[in-house]
Formats: sequence, structure tokens, C-alpha cells
Amino acid sequence: MATNTRTDPADRVTTLAVDIGGSGIKALLLDEAGQPLSTRGRVETPKPATPKAVIAVIADLAKAKGPFDRVSVGFPGVVRQGVTVTAPNLDASWNGYKLAASLKRVLGRPVRVANDADVQGFGAIAGRGVEVVMTLGTGMGSALFVDGRLVPNLELAHHPFRKGMTYEEQLGNMALKKAGKEKWNSRLGKAIQALDALFNYDVLYIGGGNTKHIAIPLPANVKVVPNVAGLLGGIALWK
Ligand code: BGC
Repeated sequence: MATNTRTDPADRVTTLAVDIGGSGIKALLLDEAGQPLSTRGRVETPKPATPKAVIAVIADLAKAKGPFDRVSVGFPGVVRQGVTVTAPNLDASWNGYKLAASLKRVLGRPVRVANDADVQGFGAIAGRGVEVVMTLGTGMGSALFVDGRLVPNLELAHHPFRKGMTYEEQLGNMALKKAGKEKWNSRLGKAIQALDALFNYDVLYIGGGNTKHIAIPLPANVKVVPNVAGLLGGIALWK
């Protein structure tokens, strides 16, 4: 009898991938290989974006996308062992919040949480050499991989960049709105140069919703990745 690999129990493990952003919370169901099994759901990030309000949104998205066996979450701040440490674009109440444990209680499934740019990176990298990720959304995310291994929680966002301002102050969504597309693009070019000089990366991936505003030519080793990588990368948290 021919074996249908689709009936292998391991193939049926489904992962709910969640991406918590400053403006939207997104969710997608993934199969064992990390391929999408559903359309992407998106709900506006509640204001204020407290843990309780954000978890309620995730519970609704989970109900709409379920059933699933496990959950991966990309979080817009530093995360250590499922506990959120910072959340500059959400709410101060995330400091020291046990997100993985709380979500596990609400959803009844095991939950793994990582920084959103780290997850985005897993969805984009080739796994060879030095690969750096920058995300341009509400905040500015960053991630570093060496031969596919993550250096977790690289936080370029709040690192000094230029003119006494941080990367996020120059390249975040507020900066884009305030400075306009032309200035923002010119800053982006300078940031790419600065990151190249710092990391000597093999590839720099740029993701996030504001990549649609990029209007400068990019060097051959700089690639724009689709936003869905922020969800697809969620599968890597279970490898
Ligand atoms: C946070 C990062 C996050 C980025 C994108 C920054 O403000 O410090 O941890 O990855 O925003 O959401």
C-alpha cells in the first residue's frame, strides 16, 4: 500500500502563528512544514495595548482560526523565556509579564514567544553566514543570525544612530510621518551603510509594513521580505 505522508501524525501538528504589532495583531495557521493552512486574520491593536486587551484579541483570532496544537507568538519587545521584558510601542504593563504562561491558560495549548524581528528573521533567512534583519513598522526591529543560529533580542531600535537620535526615532513609523518619505528613505540608506559597517553581513533582510515606502535602490545583498514572514517564521520556535 502506498504511504500517504499527509496522514503521518506529525504532519497534522498545526501551529497558530501570532504577530503582535503596534498597529495590528495578525494570526495564521501553519502546518508541520510551516506552510499556511488558513488566510491571515488581522485585528487592530487595542488602545491601550495592555496584556489583558491584547490577549482578548488573540483569543478571538484563535477562535476564528482554530483548532491548533500549539502557538507561536512574535512580540514587539524583548522576551526572555516567555516573559516580556520591554514593549516600547504597546504599554508599560508588559514589563515582566508572563505572556507564554497566560496565553497557555487562555488557549489551552503550549505557547512559545519570541521577539517579533527574531520571528520575522526565521521566516526570511537562508541559514548561511551572517544574516541581519531590520523591520520597519510602528517600531524598528532588528535580528542577527549566524549560520541560522539566532543571537536573541538584538535591540538596535534604541541604540544611538545619528543626530542624537536612535534608529527607531529616525526610522520608526512616527519618524516616517514626521520627516516624510524622502528624508526617511535617505536615513534608511544611511542605516543600511551603518549596519553593513558594523556587522559585515552576508545578507540584510528588510521586512515590515513600511517597506512599501522604500524608494531608494538597494545593494544586491539587501533584500526586502514580505510581511507574512513575521508569521511564517513562527514555525521555527518549535524546532
Ligand atoms: C522594540 C523591538 C521590536 C521593534 C519592532 C522596538 O521598539 O524595542 O523589540 O522588535 O520595536 O516591533
